[in-house]
Amino acid sequence: MTLILTPKDTDEAAAERAEVAAGRLPERYGTAWQRPFLDRVAAGLKPGARVLDVGSGARPTVPADQRPEGCHWVGLDVSEHELERAEDGDYDERVVGDISSPLPQLAQSFDLVISWQVLEHVPSMAAALATQHRSLVPGGRMVAMLSGAWGFYALAARVVPYRISSKAQERLLGFPAEDKFPTKYDGCTDRGLRKRLEAGGWSSWDIVPLYKAGGYLRFNRPLQRSYLAYENWAHRRQKPNLATHYVIDAVA
Ligand SMILES: C[S@@+](CC[C@H](N)C(=O)[O-])C[C@H]1O[C@@H](n2cnc3c(N)ncnc32)[C@H](O)[C@@H]1O
Repeated sequence: MTLILTPKDTDEAAAERAEVAAGRLPERYGTAWQRPFLDRVAAGLKPGARVLDVGSGARPTVPADQRPEGCHWVGLDVSEHELERAEDGDYDERVVGDISSPLPQLAQSFDLVISWQVLEHVPSMAAALATQHRSLVPGGRMVAMLSGAWGFYALAARVVPYRISSKAQERLLGFPAEDKFPTKYDGCTDRGLRKRLEAGGWSSWDIVPLYKAGGYLRFNRPLQRSYLAYENWAHRRQKPNLATHYVIDAVA
């Protein structure tokens, strides 16, 4: 039976489909942006799998009631406070640790390592990938979703102080400021990821570029239209270094 995981975040596509039908948003916005990530996680999630959920904090990437039987789910986060916010039963184990440090206690302990919107926050992408590789058994799989370094919000994050940008996102988009974490964007491009995966001893990998950040500008339609003209160009011309997000699917 094929496992189908439901997104834990709001399915923006459901709201955006009407905009797609009206021709105000491109076709690709009609698919939930979590889908390419979740489908790959589902493919690697077998009964009894040992899973390391990196940077999962208050909300595991896959809720306990959607996991196949016998999975052992370990939540890892640099913030003890975030892990404490999780519900009872969300994790079989909680580990406080920085994924860009070596964490030798996790070596070769997992069949699947996943992360949702975490790798853009780490100070060293190479070090974080190395720890994830080390945590997997040989042949184990890593599936990660992250934001790209050249998305407009990533560029804004580099020039607008963190406290101001998280307050602005709260006001304009309704994202709670306490759920925002400082970003680094180290190696968060197609080229940067390829280079680090190649040097990191992974046996195979696939990087899926996604072009979908217009939703962040829904508070200003003229601005959104101008942005979409640029994003459509990057998508049409297949400029993977300009992608707004990436899914990495790699085998150790
Ligand atoms: C944007 S949140 C995503 C949380 C969760 N994955 C979700 O989707 O709800 C980023 C998470 O990564 C954690 N984090 C940031 N840097 C980290 C690091 N170096 N090692 C482990 N976790 C980290 C943060 O504490 C936070 O919980």
